[in-house]
Amino acid sequence: MIKTTSILATVVWLVIWAHDSYAVGSTSSYGTNQDLNVTQQLDSGVRALQIQGHNSSSSASASGISLCHTSCSILNGGTLENYLGAVTDWVKQNPNDVISIFIANNDNLPVSQWDKGFDSAGLKSYTYSLGTDSLAKKNWPTLQDMINKNERVVVYMDYKSDTSQVKYILPEFKNVWENAYDQTKLPFNCTADRINGTPDEMMYLNNHFLDETQSVLGQSYSAPNVDQLNSTNSVNTILTNSNRCARQTGYYPSFLLVDFFDKGNGTVFQAAADMNGVTYKATDIPSASASDSSQEINSGAFALDPLNSLALLSALTLTVLIQTM
Ligand SMILES: *[C@@H]1O[C@H](CO)[C@@H](O)[C@H](O)[C@H]1NC(C)=O
Ligand SMILES: *[C@@H]1O[C@H](CO)[C@@H](O)[C@H](O)[C@H]1NC(C)=O
Ligand SMILES: *[C@@H]1O[C@H](CO)[C@@H](O)[C@H](O)[C@H]1NC(C)=O
Ligand SMILES: *[C@@H]1O[C@H](CO)[C@@H](O)[C@H](O)[C@H]1NC(C)=O
Ligand SMILES: *[C@@H]1O[C@H](CO)[C@@H](O)[C@H](O)[C@H]1NC(C)=O
Repeated sequence: MIKTTSILATVVWLVIWAHDSYAVGSTSSYGTNQDLNVTQQLDSGVRALQIQGHNSSSSASASGISLCHTSCSILNGGTLENYLGAVTDWVKQNPNDVISIFIANNDNLPVSQWDKGFDSAGLKSYTYSLGTDSLAKKNWPTLQDMINKNERVVVYMDYKSDTSQVKYILPEFKNVWENAYDQTKLPFNCTADRINGTPDEMMYLNNHFLDETQSVLGQSYSAPNVDQLNSTNSVNTILTNSNRCARQTGYYPSFLLVDFFDKGNGTVFQAAADMNGVTYKATDIPSASASDSSQEINSGAFALDPLNSLALLSALTLTVLIQTM
């Protein structure tokens, strides 16, 4: 069990992040990382979303961005506006929740295009602006501050952010560091991989997903290793990995990135609960598509109890609360 004696460890509220959260399909489809759509992901307790944007050929997109996995010929998840519109609906209906969106800007599209997408999807007015590029993690506002301002969507982008142009799209690697992604074997390598600063000032995003190389239409790409999912997403693997990485790097994650978060019968939420020392109430995670032979492990999952999470937050000093995101 994780030690939660220091305040930093105590407030590590892992948010299960749905890796390539628009890449919805059964575990047997090419290029998919999740089998529930974004509304179902958020309803189930996921609080951080990752999207990968590509230059769009769709005239339906005001921003000119489509969400694809690696290449739009492998998996095209539709326009940015369509995806963010569903997020806007959810954010409106859940006024006490704060979510994060991580953008992988694979085609290095100008930040103004992303801004157009957030704006036309109605999500821009809910975004949070730090007022600067980055803050040391201890200086971040609290979740309650964000809820009070009704600015409950924190947006990070890996490359081409520019807060002088679009103030709410924050440079990810000045605020959050990551270990390497697309790893293909356990135990995970937790050395800092992408970072622009020092780990003790920044939040930590743990890439906790296992890939294998596949090839389709002559292109090879990394795909989730679905045969290993029940082990990768198990409570034991997550806690063992988090403990080992914390011994090595000194930090527990603020964000835990997983594929097919619903696989493992809610284990990813249970592991997050254990690390945070908070209680959960079971929530129904919807059944995945009928073509998915592993859907029987979806029942009886746990999700973060928002009331407990908020109670936990308000009991702690303000400065460290954002790490619970
Ligand atoms: C996106 O595609 C359009 C044509 O569809 C092209 O004019 C534009 O230069 C492309 N932008 C980038 C950043 O690749
Ligand atoms: C997500 O899936 C559910 C169940 O199939 C459906 O009712 C809902 O409309 C979908 N939402 C989006 C945004 O696609
Ligand atoms: C672990 O990841 C770091 C950062 O990407 C890398 O420099 C290092 O070579 C990796 N170690 C192993 C054993 O792969
Ligand atoms: C994962 O599933 C396989 C069969 O699909 C089973 O053999 C294995 O024991 C399971 N592992 C865990 C950790 O549940
Ligand atoms: C899933 O979790 C529920 C509730 O804890 C439990 O009753 C059920 O046995 C679990 N199913 C599997 C396949 O582990």
